[in-house]
Amino acid sequence: MGSISGGKQNLIIVSNRLPLSVKRVDGSFQSSLSSGGLVTSLAGLTKSTQFQWFGWPGLEVRDLGDREEVSKSLEAHNAIPIFLDSTLAHEHYNGFSNRILWPILHYQSGVTFDDTPWQAYKRVNELFADAIVESAESGTLIWVHDYHLMLLPELLRHRLKQQGKACAIGFSLHTPFPAGDFWRNLPVRKHLIEGLLSSDLIGFHTDEYKQNFIDTCASLLDARTEIPNQIQYKNRLVCTNKFIVGIDPQKFTDTLQTPKVQDRIRTLKERYKGVKVIVGVDRLDHIKGLTQKLSGFDTFLDDHPELQNKVVLIQVAVPSREDVKEYQDLERDLCTMAGKINGKHATPEGTPLLYMHRSVPFAELTALYSVADVCLLTSTRDGMNLVAFEYVACQEERHGVLVLSEFAGASSFMSEGSISFHPANTTEMSEAIFKAITLDPSERKSKYEYLRNFVNENTR
Ligand code: ADP
Ligand code: F6P
Repeated sequence: MGSISGGKQNLIIVSNRLPLSVKRVDGSFQSSLSSGGLVTSLAGLTKSTQFQWFGWPGLEVRDLGDREEVSKSLEAHNAIPIFLDSTLAHEHYNGFSNRILWPILHYQSGVTFDDTPWQAYKRVNELFADAIVESAESGTLIWVHDYHLMLLPELLRHRLKQQGKACAIGFSLHTPFPAGDFWRNLPVRKHLIEGLLSSDLIGFHTDEYKQNFIDTCASLLDARTEIPNQIQYKNRLVCTNKFIVGIDPQKFTDTLQTPKVQDRIRTLKERYKGVKVIVGVDRLDHIKGLTQKLSGFDTFLDDHPELQNKVVLIQVAVPSREDVKEYQDLERDLCTMAGKINGKHATPEGTPLLYMHRSVPFAELTALYSVADVCLLTSTRDGMNLVAFEYVACQEERHGVLVLSEFAGASSFMSEGSISFHPANTTEMSEAIFKAITLDPSERKSKYEYLRNFVNENTR
């Protein structure tokens, strides 16, 4: 995190999850880097900017002495924990944020609204507002992140005013924002939009998400939106913009040069000599289109018997939101599918699919990115998808091919340098995979150069 070495603190970042997650191990507390696009995209900021980061530490800590210990250990990283009791945290994070709001933001139908998690969502946003307003001074910029905290700008503005503090409030959404008609599925749709409209600036990953939001404000709240990128509502003017999030590519290129990773790359290259390697790295989430990916790969194997034992898909499915039933069901389905695909296509020489349901260390991740001829990302909807950027950062030598779903936010910037397809169309996916592994070197190079320039120009 950015270090604050005396002087006035003028930036507060807020997200539900802190960049460090705390765990209790044998009676003491240990913290490790949290995974996910939000932490990756903000990590680079620590190089140039000083800030405090408020968020939930990832576990319940009841005892006051323990709370002090956790706060102290995070203080070194300028991370400030907001402690929540486990039932409240569960209802807010799993109940409302991930079972109700997340699916709607990603165009998933069949969501059932429930009042208990909604009340918890409101309460957690209030607790965040109380803690932040206490620390903020006039002149502080408060930058709130993501869908877990959509009510926070309004709660902050109200409390700051009561305390006579003048602070600017920014909000960044790291997911898509759906078209207005879909957003109507959410009974509390108005509250959330009004919560956000107390921000001074609201950022989205793509123009499409931004415009969907503006149109929703007009249709749902009668807000005035004649001036591009601006929303006038209740005597306030709110600006919106598109902000392309990116990665710190240097972190990947430096890691690739380490002897440990070089060694690992040699081993993997030897292991997969004569075999085209396709890599996939995704949180285990419906929106990543993992069942679609396995179906598409199955179709590809059916379509190309001549490539038996010559292609392997290494799929890392990082465990995520494991307390939510839909995520547990997905995990079970993927295991079954993986078993069926290998049952159908494996030979004594090998299995075409390596499905890893676990988190892999950063060094291993970069080695995998580096040896892969193709990266296959099949999101049915996705705010951006930073794995696409990371793969590119590790492909300077090989000029690997990115096969990217048209529904990943990244596709609106990277489609020219990648092979695009519709994730629900297994035939199209199979053709895209075939095209990627047979693309001639000059086309690979020109596509790669386009992607490399984009990733290097949009660093964080
Ligand atoms: P999302 O935000 O939905 O998780 P992204 O693709 O934007 O999706 O970001 C995922 C991030 O998580 C990437 O930066 C990726 O490197 C990171 N990641 C993947 N596997 C791990 C892991 N095992 N540990 C930590 N971070 C990981
Ligand atoms: O991309 C959306 C997002 O919620 C990010 O904010 C976060 O980094 C990632 O998904 C992982 O989510 P969670 O905090 O639920 O593990």
